[in-house]
Parts: sequence; structure tokens; C-alpha cells
Amino acid sequence: MSFCVAIDGPAAAGKGTIAKSVATHFELPHLDSGLLYRAVGARELQGEDPVSAAEALDPSELDAEKLRTAEIAKAASRVAVIPEVRAALVDFQRVFAQRAGGAVIDGRDIGTVIAPDAAVKLFVTASVEARAERRHAELMARGEASDLAQVRDDVAARDRRDRERTLSPLVAAEDALTLDTTDLTIEEAVEAAIAAVAAKR
Ligand code: C5P
Repeated sequence: MSFCVAIDGPAAAGKGTIAKSVATHFELPHLDSGLLYRAVGARELQGEDPVSAAEALDPSELDAEKLRTAEIAKAASRVAVIPEVRAALVDFQRVFAQRAGGAVIDGRDIGTVIAPDAAVKLFVTASVEARAERRHAELMARGEASDLAQVRDDVAARDRRDRERTLSPLVAAEDALTLDTTDLTIEEAVEAAIAAVAAKR
């Protein structure tokens, strides 16, 4: 039977780490759906038409490391508002969500649009300040130049764009369990997520 864990939430709330840890713990394949939008954003930055880029995307060829820059994150949230881009990326995600052995997918619209029947839905969130500090530390650790105030503005702008778009906006599914990680260590957040999944497994 398929067992999909859908993990949604705003940028830098910890959903990537949580999704990876849940996938490892339960031995499930993991898809970071943000990488699909980042790959399209990266191509748009190179002058490609985002809709053609999304239609031609080979999800098996995503280079996660190269796609995790602040500039590409911004481009991703710009192309993510285009209905044809989202439409081109839906099938791959739905097929992944329905894998027979189960799957973990994280993103913005997994519990609401991609896998509304997911066995477990988590909405991972945290205050803008906490998320900006985490993203800032992450960028510095990667050797990218980073300014905390700028990161906070970028995170807030991306939140707004993700929440206010008409198609597949960032919103918690009605049946999602909200996990606020503002005052949690990443270990505590992972533990809470694993407990929530274990309860339904
Ligand atoms: O999760 P990540 O920060 O990599 O996502 C980059 C951007 O891709 C998000 O800000 C959002 O605009 C878009 N996205 C989306 N739907 C998803 C995953 C990501 O619109 N399921």
C-alpha cells in the first residue's frame, strides 16, 4: 500500500532536514519538490523560457548543490507562480507520491494539491526571524556572501509570493499537523516529526 508523507511549509523552517530524516528513518524515498522549481528558475536565469524549461525538465538530473543559492531560490519562487510551469511538474510529483513502497515529499503544496490523500501531512513552520537566521548561517557555511537583514527581506518576500499566489498557494492542509520549530532544535523537530509519522505507520 502506498504511504505518502507530505511535508509543507515556508522557506528555512526545517522541512528539508525533517523530510530527509523521516525518509531515512522509515527507509522511504524522498523528493525535495523545491528542486524542480529551482531547476526551472536556474534555466530562466540563463535566458530560457520557464514553461519550455519545465516541460523539458529531467528530474533525474537535478544538481541539488548547484541549485541551493539565494539567487536561484528567488527565481524559483518567480517561476512557481506560472500555471503552465506548475502543470508541467505535477505528474512527476504525483507518480512519486503514489510509489507502492511509500514516499516522503516536501514542498509548498504537497498535502493540498500533489497528494491530498497522503497518509501523513505535516506543516512545518517557524517565525521569520528564526528562519532568516538559519538560512543566513546556512549560506555562510556554504561560503556564500550573506547579510542577515537582506536574508530576512528575501525570506519575507518569498513567503508573500508563495502565500499570495492564486494557484497552489502555501497553506496548511486542513488535516495537517502543524509543527512550529521556532523554539526547537533540529533534533527535537526531527523527533516530533518521526513520532507523528510513526503514529500513522
Ligand atoms: O523549498 P525551496 O525553498 O527549495 O523552494 C523554492 C521555491 O519553489 C519556493 O519558494 C516556492 O516558490 C517554489 N515551490 C513551490 N511548490 C513546491 C515547492 C517549491 O511553489 N511544492
